[in-house]
Amino acid sequence: MNPVKISVIGSGYAGLVNAVGFAHLENIVTCVDIDKKKIDNINNGISPIYEEGLEENLKGALKKGNIKATTDITKAVMETDITFIAVGTPSNNDGSINLKYIRKVSEDIGNILKKKDRYHTITVKSTVVPGTTEDVVAKTIESVSGKKRGKDFGLAMSPEFLREGKAMQDFLKPDRVVIGEHDNKSGDMLYALNKPLTDNILRTDIKTAEMIKYTSNAFLATKISFTNEIGNICKKLGIDVYDVMKGVGMDFRISPYFLNAGCGFGGSCFPKDVKALIAKSKDLGYDPLLLENVIKVNISQPKIMIELAKKHLGTLKDKKITLLGLAFKPGTDDIREAPSIIIIEELLKVGAKITVYDPQAMDSIKAMFGDKINYMPTKKDAIAASDTIMLVTEWDEFREEDLYHGKLVIDGRKTLEKRTESNYEGICW
Ligand SMILES: NC(=O)c1ccc[n+]([C@@H]2O[C@H](COP(=O)([O-])OP(=O)(O)OC[C@H]3O[C@@H](n4cnc5c(N)ncnc54)[C@H](O)[C@@H]3O)[C@@H](O)[C@H]2O)c1
Repeated sequence: MNPVKISVIGSGYAGLVNAVGFAHLENIVTCVDIDKKKIDNINNGISPIYEEGLEENLKGALKKGNIKATTDITKAVMETDITFIAVGTPSNNDGSINLKYIRKVSEDIGNILKKKDRYHTITVKSTVVPGTTEDVVAKTIESVSGKKRGKDFGLAMSPEFLREGKAMQDFLKPDRVVIGEHDNKSGDMLYALNKPLTDNILRTDIKTAEMIKYTSNAFLATKISFTNEIGNICKKLGIDVYDVMKGVGMDFRISPYFLNAGCGFGGSCFPKDVKALIAKSKDLGYDPLLLENVIKVNISQPKIMIELAKKHLGTLKDKKITLLGLAFKPGTDDIREAPSIIIIEELLKVGAKITVYDPQAMDSIKAMFGDKINYMPTKKDAIAASDTIMLVTEWDEFREEDLYHGKLVIDGRKTLEKRTESNYEGICW
């Protein structure tokens, strides 16, 4: 396939991984962001986020001249044939989706397309509630540019399924690629771009593609909250939920994945996407009872860590407690909606003296909690600082049992496979 000239607007987790991935496939990619520091870093071969293999592939693509980064969206769109929109779609306070970045980029693109006389395809990569690509993105571009979708510009929505921590691997070997297309020409272009990656390409309409993304995340989040609820029951029964789910996951209809009980899911996607789907459903006059309880279970789950600490220590006032792991999962520096945040907040409320350590996420937590908590440069220092250790993210480096000799360990992730010392509490086992 001839290289395609691609611009990616928004150079965060989703945008940068796609940009580097498509450049790796020998396309010519321009990354755009409003954050000048990110742009400078990308041009210097420094990945602004931690993701295995990302920086290496970025450096390789820069060397070949397949990628560059800029804050100049006009030049980027003018010089390319297809634009991926990958800006953030955070939650409003009521959980509904906040489309301010999507609207701004759509306006910018509209203004640029007004001056562009070649056909240009716009593809939404950001996670957006059904209807957004057609009713917000395309409508804004049409009203600002005076051009028509399908005739003057192409329109598609291709949801992003990457897992943080495995993002590069997921880009290069996806389970499936979903292409929601308004016009065949855009669909064909996306099909050709993705064909080298997988044969599992589903072509559908735009709203269905948007809904596939929400349904996937809502289902996975439900699996986790379901497992946590079963885990809470197992704990009371004196049964290890991991042994239970091992048997349950052998059923091919269920699969063994996402059956790990623990202190809750976090990250930039599950909480926000489930909440956005709940808000959208309510907008439509439907009360999504199951999804609301998926969120409720998830909010109460980290608080069980505090209850377990109280069971052993009584009052937590002035008790020294160390949290190992702050990122919402191993392999990433992302702390968005991480259970560690709820645990720290709850421990602060009861007056505990908190020490934290994470191999990647210290800076982000420092920016959030400042001098309210203590930070240690190594796990050994962090463990030495307290008699009680909470395992919150299952980084491999926390798995050595010997690290915790003599300490009370409250494990929120089954980080320790087995614990011979008796002062060990698993959250659901
Ligand atoms: N992070 C993930 O693992 C993941 C996975 C699947 C889908 N998604 C979806 O992808 C989207 C982006 O998520 P993310 O995690 O990459 O967000 P992010 O916050 O890491 O990145 C968004 C980037 O967009 C930039 N931006 C904002 N407005 C801009 C503008 N007007 N022009 C240019 N750049 C602009 C920001 O500066 C930021 O760098 C979201 O909708 C998210 O739900 C993310």
